[in-house]
Amino acid sequence: MTIYTQWSVVSNAPYRDHDEDNLRDAFSITLGKSIILREMKAVLITKPGPPSVLKIGEVPDPQPSDGELLIQVRATSLNRADLLQRRGIYPPPAGTRADIPGLEFSGTVLESREPECRFKPGDRVMGLLPGEGYAELVVTPAVTAMPIPGNLSFEEAAAVPEVFATAYDALFRQVDLKQGERLLIHAVGSGVGTAAVQLSREAGVTMVGTAGSNEKLSRAKELGLHVGINYRTTDFVEAVLHQTDNAGVDAILDLVGAAHWKGNLKVLRSTGRMIIIGLVSGSKVEVDLSVILRKRLRLMGSVLRFRTLAEKTQLAHLMIENVLPLFEQEKLTPVIDRVYPWQDVSAAHSYMEENRNFGKIVLAGQW
Ligand SMILES: NC(=O)c1ccc[n+]([C@@H]2O[C@H](COP(=O)([O-])OP(=O)(O)OC[C@H]3O[C@@H](n4cnc5c(N)ncnc54)[C@H](OP(=O)(O)O)[C@@H]3O)[C@@H](O)[C@H]2O)c1
Repeated sequence: MTIYTQWSVVSNAPYRDHDEDNLRDAFSITLGKSIILREMKAVLITKPGPPSVLKIGEVPDPQPSDGELLIQVRATSLNRADLLQRRGIYPPPAGTRADIPGLEFSGTVLESREPECRFKPGDRVMGLLPGEGYAELVVTPAVTAMPIPGNLSFEEAAAVPEVFATAYDALFRQVDLKQGERLLIHAVGSGVGTAAVQLSREAGVTMVGTAGSNEKLSRAKELGLHVGINYRTTDFVEAVLHQTDNAGVDAILDLVGAAHWKGNLKVLRSTGRMIIIGLVSGSKVEVDLSVILRKRLRLMGSVLRFRTLAEKTQLAHLMIENVLPLFEQEKLTPVIDRVYPWQDVSAAHSYMEENRNFGKIVLAGQW
């Protein structure tokens, strides 16, 4: 952390461990006619391109507005969307920097500007972000922040918000999955997939899942998956129909998109529901609408990032009520494949791009 004047560096004093008053003072320092700019470290997308375009740089500290928290980020984790943003094909919502990826954080409150004082400096919090999470500091609306369950480390907490909120919202608010139903989860070894398996297990749902390796499938079985299908070696349509005595599944959580589209329509039973939340294999498909009509299917799509503040607030409350207690009771676990130091962010992106991760990839440590 550095304080710059117009002409020169005047202090390198770190304030991260200072108390709230010192911190506030640090923001309001004036030195004669000097312009005081505090700068934080962040991972910057220096230009659209491969993982090597990610570099650690310095940018002005974010400033909290009314109703917001200033957070010292202790860890974040990668999401597939970060890779697209890095390549310049998935811009964040208006008002969010496009050159700092990062959809979630875990950290400590440095300053609270929320009137209700739900959170105070020093509290451990985690949450979703529209972007800018690969940084030393973030600001977030206090209403969307969630307390970190006491038994989770910062690294573990960083692996929770995006995938558990996505899976919980998709399966239980939109698809309205019920105990005893049969669910097909594609890319079951993905971050979202590993959250979906655990939530479905707790809800008493019977699961079949696909992945591109037997190793991912065995690990998903340890989390509660009942039947695993390696889509590279086995036709998942035949396998699902065989497993269900040709009845098909009640619901599908699809993160894959185009590649599995035709097969999905075949394995959904009459009145089945499918939610599409990811398009890793592409988005263009040919469709025979008569299948949807004849089987009376319900097809849904969902994305968290572009939801309104009110929608994100509601989801955070539902997570706090229904999902976070299950971490405290040790019924749910953040699934972390690897933790990379911030300096190795390019290697972390390559690892995800090569589809090698089972669960989440976390960034943490000293800058
Ligand atoms: N809608 C939302 O709000 C929301 C929120 C979070 C994530 N998502 C989406 O959900 C998906 C998963 O995200 P994540 O961060 O959990 O991803 P992830 O951990 O990177 O996992 C993605 C997995 O998809 C599989 N895959 C990749 N290309 C494939 C292809 N062509 N055909 C079939 N499978 C393929 C790979 O597993 P295999 O080895 O098994 O092939 C890969 O490891 C992404 O599309 C992401 O954008 C959506």
